[in-house]
Formats: sequence, C-alpha cells, structure tokens
Amino acid sequence: MSERKILVTSALPYANGPIHLGHLVEYIQTDIWVRFQKQRGNQCYFICADDTHGTPIMLKADREGITPEELISKVGIEHLADFTEFNVIFDNYHSTHSEENRVFSSLIYNRLRSAGHINSRTITQAYDPVKLMFLPDRFIKGECPKCGALDQYGDGCEACGATYSPIELKNAVSAISGKKPIEKDSVHYFFNLADFASMLNEWTTEGHLQPEVCNKLAEWLKSGLQQWDISRDAPYFGFEIPDAPGKYFYVWLDAPIGYMASFKNLCDKQGLIFDEFWSEDSTTELYHFIGKDIIYFHALFWPAMLSGANFRLPTAIFAHGFLTVNGEKMSKSRGTFITARTYLNHLNPEYLRYYFAAKLNAGVDDIDLNFDDFSQRVNSDLVGKVVNIGSRCSGFINKRFNNKLSSSCSEPALFQEFINANTQIAEFYDTREYGKAMREIMALADKANQYIDEKKPWLIAKQDNKNSELHDICSVGINLFRLLMAYLKPVTPSLATEAEKFLAIDTQVWPNRATPLIDHTINTFIPLMIRVEADKISAIIDDSKDNLEKTIDISIKGSQMKEPTFEPIANTIEFNDFAKLDLRIAKIIKANHVKDSDKLLQLTVDIGDETRNIFAGIKSAYSPEDLEGKLTLVVANLVPRKMRFGTSEGMVLAAGPGDKNIWILSPDQGAVAGMRVK
Ligand code: MSP
Ligand code: ZN
Repeated sequence: MSERKILVTSALPYANGPIHLGHLVEYIQTDIWVRFQKQRGNQCYFICADDTHGTPIMLKADREGITPEELISKVGIEHLADFTEFNVIFDNYHSTHSEENRVFSSLIYNRLRSAGHINSRTITQAYDPVKLMFLPDRFIKGECPKCGALDQYGDGCEACGATYSPIELKNAVSAISGKKPIEKDSVHYFFNLADFASMLNEWTTEGHLQPEVCNKLAEWLKSGLQQWDISRDAPYFGFEIPDAPGKYFYVWLDAPIGYMASFKNLCDKQGLIFDEFWSEDSTTELYHFIGKDIIYFHALFWPAMLSGANFRLPTAIFAHGFLTVNGEKMSKSRGTFITARTYLNHLNPEYLRYYFAAKLNAGVDDIDLNFDDFSQRVNSDLVGKVVNIGSRCSGFINKRFNNKLSSSCSEPALFQEFINANTQIAEFYDTREYGKAMREIMALADKANQYIDEKKPWLIAKQDNKNSELHDICSVGINLFRLLMAYLKPVTPSLATEAEKFLAIDTQVWPNRATPLIDHTINTFIPLMIRVEADKISAIIDDSKDNLEKTIDISIKGSQMKEPTFEPIANTIEFNDFAKLDLRIAKIIKANHVKDSDKLLQLTVDIGDETRNIFAGIKSAYSPEDLEGKLTLVVANLVPRKMRFGTSEGMVLAAGPGDKNIWILSPDQGAVAGMRVK
C-alpha cells in the first residue's frame, strides 16, 4: 500500500441558510471517505468553504438589515459549528468571499479570455423598476402560462411541471417589490462552453464519472452546449469582473474556484505545495463529492474552465442522491427540513452517521430517512450488536481478572478471520459502498456474539476450575470488539475514540496487520452508547414543525413517533440514581390468587407507615399461604401502575430464571416492616 496524495471536496454550502439533514448526507459521506483514507495512511486533505455570493444572499442581508459581509461571517460560524459537532472535520473551511478566491477567479477568467473563450453581447432581461435591479428567474412570480396555477416562479411551474422563460409568466410581479417587472438591456459576458465539446466528450466517458451520470451527460452533450452567462449586473454581491466595471462574476463561476482558494489558504498555513495538486501535470488525486442537482456545473462547466485555464482536471466526481424524510421529498425553498442544529439538540450525531452509512452506496439513488428504521438499525446494530460485545466481556475481565486480558489468544483462527475481512471492508469503503461495508462489519459482530453465546462465559464463571477458560473467552471477545471498532472508526469516530480509551490503546490504524492484545490491561467499561430514545425523535419533529406544517409535500406521521420508550443500556449507574430508589422491608399481610391470571398474586403488604396493594408475578413459584407473614423487599416509590386487575402500588423484588425457580428476596433476622435500604 503506497501512500496516495488525495484532495477531496464537498460542495460548498450556500451561506443563506442553515445546514440541514439533506446537506449532511453529503458531508457525512465525504467525511467517512476522508477518514477512511487517512486511517489507511494516505495523505488526504478535505477542503470546503461557504458559498457566499449571489442575489439571494444579498437580499437576505438586506432583509435582516445587515451587510452581506456580516451575514456570511455569522452563517459561516454556524455552519462550521454544525459540521464540527457532526464530526465532519475539514482540513480547511474557508469562504468564497476571500482574497484567494478573488485572485484565482481573476486568473482563470483572464486565461479563458486570452484564449478566446469569453465573449460579450447585449441581452434583454426582467428588471425591477423599484428595487433597480435585474431579477433572477427565481425572483419573478406569476401565473403559469400553461395551467394557470398562481404564484409560480419564473423558471417553471410546480403544479404542472412546465418550464418556460419568465417573460411568458402571466401577471408577473417581482418577488422583491411586488411590482410588474420591465424589460431592460444589458451587456453580459459568456463562457463559450462549445469550445470544449470534444474535450468534454472524451473526458466524460473516461471513467471519471458514475455510469448513470455519464449517461445523463451524453444526453446533454448530444443536445448541444450553450454559451454560459457568467456575468451579473450591479447590485450584486460578488467579485467585480477585472476589465468590466459594474459587472460581477456570476456566483457559479467563482464557487468551484472556491475549492482551489480554500486549498491555497491551507497551503499557506501548512506549507503545502499548491501546484503539486493543481498543475496540469499533477500526479495527485482530486475528488469532488456533490449532490446530483449540481452535476452540470461540476462535470461540464468546471472541467472546461480548468482545462481552458491550464489546470488539472478532477480524478473523479462522486454524485449522490437526495435525502427524503419518511418517504417524502424535502423542499428547501419551502422550508421543509430538519436542521443540523435541531437534530443536535436532541440526538447523538453518530446515530445519523451510522444510519446514512448503512444506506449509502456508490449510486445516485435518493436515500430515505425513516425514523422507525433509524431507531431500529442503530439500536440493533450499534448498541445491540457491537457495543454489547464490549459490555458482555468486560465485566468478568474487570471483576475476576483485575482488568487484565489473558496471556495468549485462544482463538487465533477467529481473530485471523476478523483481520482477513479488512480487504473486503476496505474495498467497500474505497468504492463508497458504505452500506455493504456496514453489513460486512455487522456480520462479524454477529460472529463475535455467536462465539460468546456458544461459550457461555456466564455459566463458566460459576465453575471454580474454569477460571482460565473464562479469562480466554472474554479476552477473545474484547479483541474482536477492538477490531470492530477499528472498522467502524470512519463512521463513528467518537464511539471509536471512547472505545480506544476503554481499551487503553492508541488511535487505531486500519487493522490489516493487527495482532491480539495480550496481557494488556484495559479500563473499566463505561456504557459507550445508549439506545435511541423515541421521545427524542418526537422532540426533533416537534421542533421542526414550524417548517413542516406549512407544507403539503412532507408528512412525518404521528404514529411513527409514538414508539415505546427504549431503555438506555446502563451497566453502571450514578449513586444519585441509586439514591432515588425507596427500597423497603415489607411484611406480606395477605396474599390472594388473582382471577383470570396465571402469573400474578395479589399481595397486601405493610411498608411501615402504610399498607400497599401489589401485584407480583410469582404465582408459578409460591402459593398464597406460603407467603402470608413473610418479610420481603419492595420498591416503594414506583409510579402506581394500572393493570387489568387493579392498581399495583409498588414492586416486590424477586430473582430467578422463572417458573418454579423464582425467589422473593427476604431480609435477615431482625429486620422489621418499614425499614429502608441504605
Ligand atoms: N452552493 C452550491 C454548491 C457550490 S459547489 C462549488 C450548492 N449549495 S447547497 O447548499 O444548495 O448544497 C450543498 C450540497 O448539499 C450540494 O451538493 C447539494 O446537492 C447537497 N444537498 C442539498 N440538499 C440536499 C438533500 N436534500 N439531499 C442530499 N443532498 C443535498 O448547491
Ligand atoms: Zn402550470
């Protein structure tokens, strides 16, 4: 495995709104890939920035009564905080409104112009006579010329799907001033995309793109390449075009150049060599992760710009599908989204990272976030299968072996099988088949659990002469758990780090050559992850309701939120939690059969200051007359529970596997009813 030099980007999020779960599909997908590459020992840089230019940002700042600079600096901080808390860690996060970006945008424009790829001509556009600005299609509203639907945007009808030019809208008004737009002429600058037709015909079929994307591009290329309008008139928030005062670069011209600018900014901070990654003859790798909505910009305009300006082309572009929530499309313009912040207020970000990983593949299919499925997968895979192995084995290691693992590996073949799986798992990560990688890892987790189930350490622990066998089994379990954590590290980095602390080991590299931990002292296990709590999901939905209710195109059904509350896995509790229990000695005054119940007995117990009615599931082991007069232990401060037969006002403590083998707990001589456990 020779070290690769890799530059990776995610698309630059617009600075006019918050990060939402749809965005996170992309940033999490990219972050997993980058973490994987780094864990493999490759030199990999993850670059991003806020996309800060354009009319919507200018108008939003206007509405908020602040300057665009103030808006983008505020939003930039929020975006980075959201990403960081989701463990999406960039090597550099910059802004397209930066000096580096101004320099590279001018450079590329100048090179394109010198090579004859830029020309200008006068065009006629809708103009707001009050606001004194040209109106982008999205800012003109009116009636659809085809179906008559009201309130449609200038670029297409959401009711009937027709596309048209804003001039065709009936009763059109400016969405900014509400006034009827006029038509006005202005000189625009164009990039001559057709100059690159043959280059693009080749490049798009050379394996830089996914097959679906390649097909789509073939259609576009066949229908002919239009000139691309790269200028906008003042007022516009962006970079003024060097030789055209009052004209600005269209946001999509300088946005992808923002990838370079952010990397340049990193180079200056870390002493990296910019040209090594961007010169025409670069031997490094360059990958862009993007959503399928912006393929045109990345697979046609961007390679053409790079090639025309004598820079290297991307090694590959990885497009992904869109996120739907409970089967319905999220709509950004209508505000139907769950923001990153709302999610973070309630749930562990690594749940979502795992869920997305489990659903992602190398294709461009949409992925659905279904909250039932989400809870179920996280609870059964991460908590129930993986974390559980650590918790099952560490208890004995802790209590019986002073936290020390045994001095040899008793299952070398099983351990080796886990190591051998690394090749396949790595290939799945590398090819963005994360769903397959997760299935592979969970199959290993099943194997580890199966091994423990077969060996039954909890039975062996009862036999005095089997101490070393118990030690070996649990040590094998811990060693397998460690490998699972190494494989999951790109997806759940915090969980993996916590596990490393528990295991008292260094940051795990890719375990292709790992050897078992022998004679190694670990730390006492602490619960590494709790189950998804259903009420947290309902809270997220409630907090997003402002956004959700306004629309008809997303339905997050109430029934799906009212799941049973999942019990957190708690292997240890704080003293304060224990102190909440009111445990008391109780005297059973009366015991009766319960009509129609084959499990329950009804007990009347004296707990010192009062008598209580308690239903206890001990009928298979006791007859009522055995119990009367006995002392036992009850939980006295449980919330009363209404049952079919009456209300139970406490709980009798009993132990045993069931049936005849249930024993109520009873105190030693001298105890009397009403005494509290301390
Ligand atoms: N600013 C441009 C990108 C410029 S890149 C030089 C942009 N910004 S965006 O904020 O709208 O989207 C950022 C990325 O998030 C895009 O790749 C986009 O496809 C992705 N997603 C936005 N909403 C999404 C979903 N609902 N689902 C999945 N990805 C989504 O586009
Ligand atoms: Zn219509």
